[in-house]
Amino acid sequence: MSAPVLTELPTGLDDLSVWPASAARLPDGNLSVGGVSLADVADRFDTPAYVLDEGEVRARCRTYRAAFPDAEVMYAAKAFLSRTMVRWIDEEGLGLDVCSAGELELAVTAGFPAERIVLHGNAKSPREIETALRLGVGRVMVDSHSEIARIAALVGPGSRQKVMVRVVPGVAAGGHEKIRTGTDAQKFGLSLTDGSAQHAIARVLGLPQLELSGLHCHIGSQITDVRPYLVAVRRMVGLMARIKASHGVTFPELDMGGGHGVAYRPGEAALDLTSLARRLTRELSSSCAAAELPVPGLVIEPGRAIVAPAGVALYRVLAVKHTGSTLFVAVDGGMSDNPRPALYGARYAPRLIGRSATAEPVAATVVGRHCEAGDVLAVDALLPGDVRPGDLLAVPVSGAYQLSMASAYNLVGRPPVVAVHEGSARLLVRRETAEDFRRRDIGV
Ligand code: LLP
Repeated sequence: MSAPVLTELPTGLDDLSVWPASAARLPDGNLSVGGVSLADVADRFDTPAYVLDEGEVRARCRTYRAAFPDAEVMYAAKAFLSRTMVRWIDEEGLGLDVCSAGELELAVTAGFPAERIVLHGNAKSPREIETALRLGVGRVMVDSHSEIARIAALVGPGSRQKVMVRVVPGVAAGGHEKIRTGTDAQKFGLSLTDGSAQHAIARVLGLPQLELSGLHCHIGSQITDVRPYLVAVRRMVGLMARIKASHGVTFPELDMGGGHGVAYRPGEAALDLTSLARRLTRELSSSCAAAELPVPGLVIEPGRAIVAPAGVALYRVLAVKHTGSTLFVAVDGGMSDNPRPALYGARYAPRLIGRSATAEPVAATVVGRHCEAGDVLAVDALLPGDVRPGDLLAVPVSGAYQLSMASAYNLVGRPPVVAVHEGSARLLVRRETAEDFRRRDIGV
């Protein structure tokens, strides 16, 4: 049953701009997402828990399809994957980008058509390539010279495998040094600058088992500016022109990867998808016209921008401590369910839910329950000054690269994923338990 909705803003802590569109205020300081009270989710499924708004995921898929009506949109499964997510992506008409046999098998066994899947990875094992070919994956992304012969050798007699070559276009972009993949100083792809990309393309073209459907690049992640994409597209078209001149071939596809940035806190910038779509398509057409190339079909691979804003992490406060001038608010999750602050210095805006907040806001440091000092979830989090053990905190924009990078640290167990939609909540992924840990540890 849908909860009653309040309209006025009780306090200055109440900015819902980065929350799912369905987020609504309820009486007593509570909040609902997908028509379901978050405090009720915490009661029913316990904490920590991750809430995923089905409507928000679907709406974001539709926004992409509307903004890029002629492009193929492949959801990057590494951001978050579950069997139900696979179904939503399929129903919304997107393809899938996977980067391991694990992601691939989960998708295919959940019913996702393999021909709409692309396989990435800078170090694919022969077994992974074999699995991908056996399941009939649509395209394999070539990331190194060493895997070219490996893929060709695994193609069955009389058949051909579509591949794309991942090119490093020499464009620096991305929200953090560790997620910039467009320049030569990192492990992915084949360099355009030093000729490795051209060399790999020539090798692939010489192998009858492989069908080179086009080139790929992914310049980085959490990018909020359109311009690096435009530079990358010009360089990719430049390379396509050189390949046409030297080999006489043109490609039907160009994959420009993902990386579309989102706002994690109110006031932060997000990549403007409409502007990206318009300017990227225009740049592609004009660069191709100038180079006398046919315009290839555009492929994009968004992950974060589809799922991050649809997720909310729920935690229970376990301890509140004033140390010097810092107010530490310790919760029952932490770096095992969200390693992003520790890895990239990512910033979040947690919010108190489940009771009315009348006390003046204070800046708190929200920390996790793990055994190291770097287990910080949010610095300068604005929380009511009377925040106390037993309170509930909700962290918006938690749908991407949190659970998918979650660990077994301290054997705390990964939280469940609860889907909310039109007033009802259902469990998608159950909580990891002590029994799970015990069962896979088979030592005596
Ligand atoms: N395509 C390729 C080839 C990729 O490597 C990635 C992400 C994507 C698409 C999707 O990028 P997105 O649209 O989600 O930015 N763990 C980091 C992000 C790592 C991204 C890795 N590759 C984080 O939490 O920020």
